[in-house]
Amino acid sequence: MPTLEDLAAKVGDLTGKRVLVRTDFNVPLDHDADGVATITDDFRIRAALPTIEWLVERGATVVTASHLGRPKGAPDPKYSMDPVRARLAELAPSVGLLENLRFDPGETANDPAFVDRLVDGIDAYVNDAFGASHRAHASIVGPPQRVPSAMGRLLQREVEVLLGLRNKPKHPFVAVLGGAKISDKLGVIEALLETVDAIVIGGAMCFTFFAAQGKPIGASLFEPDMVETCRGLLEKAAAMGKTIHLPDDITGTDADGNFAQFGSRLGDGSIGYDIGPGSAAAFTDVIMDARMVFWNGPMGMFEDERFASGTRTVAQAMADTKAFTVVGGGDSAAALAQFKLDDEVDHVSTGGGASLELLENGDLPGLAALRHD
Ligand code: 3PG
Repeated sequence: MPTLEDLAAKVGDLTGKRVLVRTDFNVPLDHDADGVATITDDFRIRAALPTIEWLVERGATVVTASHLGRPKGAPDPKYSMDPVRARLAELAPSVGLLENLRFDPGETANDPAFVDRLVDGIDAYVNDAFGASHRAHASIVGPPQRVPSAMGRLLQREVEVLLGLRNKPKHPFVAVLGGAKISDKLGVIEALLETVDAIVIGGAMCFTFFAAQGKPIGASLFEPDMVETCRGLLEKAAAMGKTIHLPDDITGTDADGNFAQFGSRLGDGSIGYDIGPGSAAAFTDVIMDARMVFWNGPMGMFEDERFASGTRTVAQAMADTKAFTVVGGGDSAAALAQFKLDDEVDHVSTGGGASLELLENGDLPGLAALRHD
């Protein structure tokens, strides 16, 4: 894929050239009672600065464009770019930002007429929106067919790191997966089984695996229609000589709703909300012994301090291990930030879905589009 240097070689002097930079400024927002939005984490804005600054230093006029949330193809004040524009003005004063791309139905529909409007008056295009590059949307796949295009620094680094895990793993390579739904991660688990030595499973998805093992899970969250799939995954992993580590103790609430700790069999009415301390210690050992670790998804409901310790322990192990550590975006990145450990891992991806899809498929629509430049 063309780099910024390739783009400069193709376009020539960038002074005065208008460059459209597709960024992923889909940042978490907090709306107060009056509907005023505040950005709760500006990581994705800061992560785009190296590309923006590189272009600005060469005299380019930079116009950024992003989606924010999931408006339904029409303007919606809740998803206005205003808070992002205000933050960007502090970090990169001369840089423009278009209104939310998803205010136009042409964005998600990949409408060629919308692409025409996006590139009108534009001399070059840069995709630095790694987190949105798994979407074949107009602003991601359209411009490279119309104007000289390149990947930005953020996109370049994400691809280098994540494809490095996939294609050049260092063993032992361990994937730590959490979160509520196994159905969201099935594809990536199957792909990871090919390369990893072990998969560590926490979060509510462990209860679907428990159900597959015939263990009682009380009233814990699980996915009944994925039980058979989990049974198949456990068998497949065993046949491949890979280990799937499941928790052997759980923290949660008992039938009366009181805080409680269990083994891996939960009684009627009990609900698991976190891995227990024994499992957290065992998972730490696996992470400490690894040479490469990929982590996606919290170990429990870490927003509630009573159920944060599994996720905190795993985050600390990610910080302490000598392994090369990569954290997929979304909730696990938020957890790392909450525990102030985000500077202690080798790479925090800006992409949630995009990082999983790249690990699964080895490619993304946004990357393929740039290769067709
Ligand atoms: C993300 O937050 O994962 C990206 O910005 C993509 O957003 P989307 O899932 O709404 O396409």
